[in-house]
Amino acid sequence: MRMVDIISRKRNGESLSIDEIEFFINGYMEDEIPDYQVSALMMAIYYKGMSEEETAHLTNSMVQSGEIIDLSSIEGHKVDKHSTGGVGDKTTFIVGPLAAAAGLPVAKMSGRGLGHTGGTIDKLEAIPGLQVEISNEDFMKQVNDIKLSVVGQTGDLAPADKKLYALRDVTATVDSIPLIASSVMSKKIASGADSIVLDVKTGSGAFMKTIEDARELAKRMVEIGNKLGRNTTAVISNMDQPLGFEIGNANEIKEAVQVLQGEKIADLRELSIELVSHMTILANVYSDVETAKKELAKLLDNGQAFEVFKQFIKAQHGDTSVIDDLTKLPSAEFQLEVEAPKEGYVSEIEAEKIGLAAMHLGAGRQTKDDSIDHAAGITLQKKIGDYVKKGEVIVELHSNSNNMESSKKLCLEAITISETKPEKSPMIYEIIT
Ligand code: URA
Repeated sequence: MRMVDIISRKRNGESLSIDEIEFFINGYMEDEIPDYQVSALMMAIYYKGMSEEETAHLTNSMVQSGEIIDLSSIEGHKVDKHSTGGVGDKTTFIVGPLAAAAGLPVAKMSGRGLGHTGGTIDKLEAIPGLQVEISNEDFMKQVNDIKLSVVGQTGDLAPADKKLYALRDVTATVDSIPLIASSVMSKKIASGADSIVLDVKTGSGAFMKTIEDARELAKRMVEIGNKLGRNTTAVISNMDQPLGFEIGNANEIKEAVQVLQGEKIADLRELSIELVSHMTILANVYSDVETAKKELAKLLDNGQAFEVFKQFIKAQHGDTSVIDDLTKLPSAEFQLEVEAPKEGYVSEIEAEKIGLAAMHLGAGRQTKDDSIDHAAGITLQKKIGDYVKKGEVIVELHSNSNNMESSKKLCLEAITISETKPEKSPMIYEIIT
């Protein structure tokens, strides 16, 4: 088999066989096939696409390139949740304990990553003492004991994806739906769960700006999951503005705990319940989504989900007094209030700009060696549809640096105030099964 023939077949719009896909992934991992040939193939795929079969084969080859986590010593049906990423997305801290309170074992491995705020693991580290590096044995035992553990990723999952993604990033081939779908699913499948719920975000603050693209990506990922033996459901959700009111690390933990304590932070609570309802359906805990949502709302309102969260913090050596008294979470030395420049309705909050403003305050990292300030972040005082008077506070900035001017400027650019009230768009658009 020759790589040049594989490239030309894809360039001509033909389908690649399983053997050809394995040949190029294995050859690339062994450094027998050079970057320039793989770049040419990525560009051919970008233009000619891939069939359902090809995408599943590509995903599987990437899964097989590394470690596959074995969760078989954990009792029960393991369902993982994955979000395609958005600003203010702290659902993991609500979804995990809520699913666990409903009886599902939640064995979550998460990353740090680059971005506007830290990743799941960075956010958790805002809780003093909390340990995210625990042995595999203790991880499994904790999930069997209290149904929930969240730890930092250790294994080398889907290394072929890492190598391909770095190449795609510099060859303008990231924005290809079959390549994105196989990339995301390779990591999820290697994580070892029995079933997967995907939160595919769409809107100005999401990777997928239009509902059509989000639907296409969701369908692709669900097909791959189902073909590779993992029942998968995708929820298409709204990312036209940040999720909830808090963007950062400690402040996102605070907001998640408030939802776990039964506070009705509308968009965050709705999305969390929606995601867990599909997890419980896949695990056969409830038979229909409506019943699931009612029961899950009760688990938030009666404090059972909050209780699981506290047990989880305690099991991982975190200071639970911080959870009972949220004012004890890390807080920043300086605060700056951003005021509305005019009166009217908030009609737009560009999530990406708000995220960038949070990063300037110290909440995220630009390069992997940057450190994170757990106390830095943004609190929105208003959301789309709210009415504001001129001079009213719309955003609060928190930082340990006294210079917050660039973040203030970004927030003012991000928020549009209009005379007419904007139409309310739904939090959940579609469910793809
Ligand atoms: N995120 C991923 O993990 N992979 C992609 O290809 C794009 C976004």
